[in-house]
Amino acid sequence: MDLFEFRDGVLHAEDVPLPAIAAAVGTPVYVYSANTFRRHARVFKAALAGLGRVHLAFAIKANPNVAVLRVLADEGYGADVVSGGEMARALAAGIPAADIVFSGVGKTRAELNRGLDEGIGQFNLELEEEGEVLAQLAHARGQRARAVIRVNPDVDAGTHAKISTGKRDNKFGVPIDEAAGMFARLARLPGLDLSGVAIHIGSQLSDLSRLEAAYARIGELVATLRAQGHAITRVDLGGGLGVPYRADDVLPSPAEYGEMVARATRGWDVELMFEPGRVIAGNAGVLLTEVIWVKPGVHHPYVIVDAAMNDLARPALYDAFHDFVAVEPSGERTVANIAGPVCESGDTFAMGREIDRVESGDLAVFRTAGAYGATMASTYNSRALVPEVLVDGDRFAVVADRIQPETILAAERVPEWLTK
Ligand code: LLP
Repeated sequence: MDLFEFRDGVLHAEDVPLPAIAAAVGTPVYVYSANTFRRHARVFKAALAGLGRVHLAFAIKANPNVAVLRVLADEGYGADVVSGGEMARALAAGIPAADIVFSGVGKTRAELNRGLDEGIGQFNLELEEEGEVLAQLAHARGQRARAVIRVNPDVDAGTHAKISTGKRDNKFGVPIDEAAGMFARLARLPGLDLSGVAIHIGSQLSDLSRLEAAYARIGELVATLRAQGHAITRVDLGGGLGVPYRADDVLPSPAEYGEMVARATRGWDVELMFEPGRVIAGNAGVLLTEVIWVKPGVHHPYVIVDAAMNDLARPALYDAFHDFVAVEPSGERTVANIAGPVCESGDTFAMGREIDRVESGDLAVFRTAGAYGATMASTYNSRALVPEVLVDGDRFAVVADRIQPETILAAERVPEWLTK
């Protein structure tokens, strides 16, 4: 459910007609609905309400805009971060350091130090050496770093290979059969307060049984660790719940996910932690674009829009589907290819898709672009970095500027020896 709806034939974000945003800010532009974020945050929280102690950490890689983080912080969400940059954003949004989980397979020593400086609530360790280094750094400053071990359960999440993380040969986590030994060794180090385990098997998951199988393995590991005498007080169940990109996609609801978690974790007696990203952000944003040309093609015309693969990379990277909808549809439909201006054939959003008939100058949106949209944008082809707008009721504000190519050019220089 989102708050991008037609009123009198014009697509609105909450109470704001999208043409008003295009007129004020230009296109392409990401448009977010604050009340959709709030709604998703509440639905997800409500789905887990019966589980006892729960900590919600929004995976800010899905949408790290500081205004979005502020909205979610106000809903009581902490943050899951994977870099020093994400940590800075979470803190800038007012998320308490204690509510931040620091994940990531390649945290540098500088980032670990920064996390200790800030008093980050939990480090999710990806390998034994990282645990040793973190323990040393913390001990040297008289601290004990709160940490858990991320386990790789060797479960196929059944999603796109590029966003699967829980198979043994993925780069993530500690093999589950090695986790207990590693836990015992790291638990002895004075600089670490090792309190549990973490798991995250992939993203855009549509099959709860695979997650349940992974959680069952974690349950067995918790029992093993307790039998070895360790106090296990936290289990981080990661993120991954998928969202519908197509109108007829059927995905498990947060409520169904909550029921599964209740079943899978019965009797664990721990604080459960969650790192949802897409399920909170996906349907809370659209990418608003203008049709530049409609160019004849061999089988179907090419609708060339002013958004491109550098603005929304998901179709090029994962063959992802984003619904394309005219902002003021005439009611006529057509079959077309949709592409951006970037100079490669991969810059194609759809081939032979039935869409609203559009013409040069018309506005349209790519839907479900609130997660992994703007955050994955680049300036390829020396295009501007796409801006972001947040709508809240009848108000809207630019929450990230369009960074012009000239600004990026100004950060480059020709060395003196080439100027002679
Ligand atoms: N926790 C960890 C450790 C993660 O690696 C991720 C996502 C999440 C939580 C949040 O997962 P979510 O709830 O959003 O599924 N760029 C790709 C998705 C990459 C996901 C990476 N990790 C895409 O556009 O589909």
